[in-house]
Amino acid sequence: MSSSLVITLAVVGGVAWLAFLGVSALRSRGKEEIPPNQSTGRTDEELETRRLERVQQGAVLFAGFLAVSLPLYFLGEGARQESFVDQFGEESITRGEHLVAEFGCFDCHGPGGSGGSAVYIEKRTGVTTQWSAPSLDDIFYRYEADEVNYWITFGRPNTPMPAWGLAGGGAMNENQVQDIVNYIQSIQIDQQEALGRVEPRISAEQQKLASADSLMGAAIAEQAQLVATIQAARGIADETLALTREMRTVLNTAAAGIDTDGDGLSDVAETELNELSAEFAAIWDLPGVEAVTFDAANAQSGGRPDEEVLDELLVGLNEQVEANPLLGSFVARIEAARSETGDDGDGDGISDAAEGTISSLLADALAAVRPDGLAVLNLDPANSESSGEADLVVAERGVSANESIALQTDVTRDNEERLLTNAQTALDHLEQAAADAKWTIDIDGVAAGFDGSADDAERAVYLFNAYCARCHTSGWSAGLPFTQEAGSGALGPALWEGRPNVQFLDQEALVEFITEGSTAAEAYGVNGIGSGRMPAFGRVLSMEDIELIASYLRTGNLTGLGGAEQ
Ligand code: HEC
Ligand code: HEC
Repeated sequence: MSSSLVITLAVVGGVAWLAFLGVSALRSRGKEEIPPNQSTGRTDEELETRRLERVQQGAVLFAGFLAVSLPLYFLGEGARQESFVDQFGEESITRGEHLVAEFGCFDCHGPGGSGGSAVYIEKRTGVTTQWSAPSLDDIFYRYEADEVNYWITFGRPNTPMPAWGLAGGGAMNENQVQDIVNYIQSIQIDQQEALGRVEPRISAEQQKLASADSLMGAAIAEQAQLVATIQAARGIADETLALTREMRTVLNTAAAGIDTDGDGLSDVAETELNELSAEFAAIWDLPGVEAVTFDAANAQSGGRPDEEVLDELLVGLNEQVEANPLLGSFVARIEAARSETGDDGDGDGISDAAEGTISSLLADALAAVRPDGLAVLNLDPANSESSGEADLVVAERGVSANESIALQTDVTRDNEERLLTNAQTALDHLEQAAADAKWTIDIDGVAAGFDGSADDAERAVYLFNAYCARCHTSGWSAGLPFTQEAGSGALGPALWEGRPNVQFLDQEALVEFITEGSTAAEAYGVNGIGSGRMPAFGRVLSMEDIELIASYLRTGNLTGLGGAEQ
């Protein structure tokens, strides 16, 4: 409040003083100037009475003014400073928000920083995986600001998380990194919400282990499909190149000729592009298998009984599984849908629900074996637009997309040997991983360390997987096919084989460490030196859950497979 008042008073005082000087100068103008040192001095009487009193009164008044106004000014100082800090803080947060958008942090860390994943080429296999990226909107419950700053500056080598700070080889200066830290701090969810994430995460981990076999099956099928695609390139490369060249020639000369809809593509060119692109797509057709839409209200398709048509399709699909391993899971799902019982309105032996499911599975199966981006054109010589877009644009884009596919096929053929070796190595790894199933945890075995309580054991295992495995189990974040034994160590040290019992003398000490995390350059446990990288879990997990995790670590047998020994 008082700063403007003081400034006003000072300005008024200053103006008055200047006016006074001006007026006295005017008054004395014209008089003969006698230098002060030559004029006769005033007598003591004169000096010590009125004039002195006036000066003293003035001084007392001014002192009074200062005595009141300075403390008032000082009282406002704290608020003023705070508002400056707030203003700087807000500006920093806004800058941080822009940087986060500019550098795409939430592309990996999920919407609003709620957790997500990033594409990662797994080192040993060359397989493209999704590496999970932790939530940032609750990170301040786990880390101090300088620790968050550290991660952003230096990133995480051997993961998709890049180093962003200059010190780590990134592009941002220290202020920018700090702006981001401030922004992230400003978007923290409340603690109840953070705690509310525990149960969903536990169910997700439960789900993940329960579906391990199908996850592995899908990963293997995808890799096997890649191998098959590489092998197939040799046989189709010439044809793909020839057809796309033809499409390009038609497109280049499309301006000449009758053009009914006036869209820059002659009628003949539109028809030819449709035909050529259909021919191109047909390269990936499956012999004996075509798209059929089963109608729940009609027992026939194309004049033949639905059951007969479906049987034939399944025979056709099965024949193609060897050349297109991805089809295996579609066959299984179509067969499963077929054996479902339920309302069968048209009495064709396939339930109403299944007719729809099977139709879409079939369409998906056909699409799955075609290259991504394949364009089948459907231009109408009597209409200058296709779904609201100019035909010329659609045609140009479609031909380019098919050219990319042809080019890719050609390059694959030229590098067949090398690509095949790599893809096969990866496939072997996945098959080995499926056989080893290193992610397996025998809950009953773990339960031996929990007085036989399978519930406690299960909860402890899923808590560990949800909150600890990403740093303490090798390969965990890349997915089950790359996961090594529980607690085998990654960014954080290995925790298997009772290691925590060596570092922490009792349960209490271990619980305390998990609760508080580590601090840079501070000792922990018996001989640990912290780096500040082990998060604190006391504010994102309940004490009971931390106790469970600690007990689990202390069993020393994290997979439960080593028998019941402690
Ligand atoms: C390409 C994907 C990607 C981008 C972009 C990205 N991150 Fe990350 N980030 C990750 C992954 C993955 C991890 C976890 C690495 C691991 O498993 O150790 C991570 C970890 C972190 C961590 C440590 C979190 C913890 O709890 O351990 C912080 C902090 C972080 N990122 C901040 C950021 C910020 C800020 C940005 C933007 C400037 C950013 N990240 C951009 C992928 C990404
Ligand atoms: C972001 C990675 C990260 C996560 C997540 C993490 N830790 Fe750690 N942990 C570390 C690091 C790094 C260390 C080594 C100490 C240090 O550098 O400060 C460590 C050390 C430890 C130690 C001591 C090991 C020893 O022998 O010195 C234990 C025990 C431990 N963590 C348990 C856990 C538990 C339990 C969880 C889950 C609730 C967990 N950690 C989650 C990174 C992590």
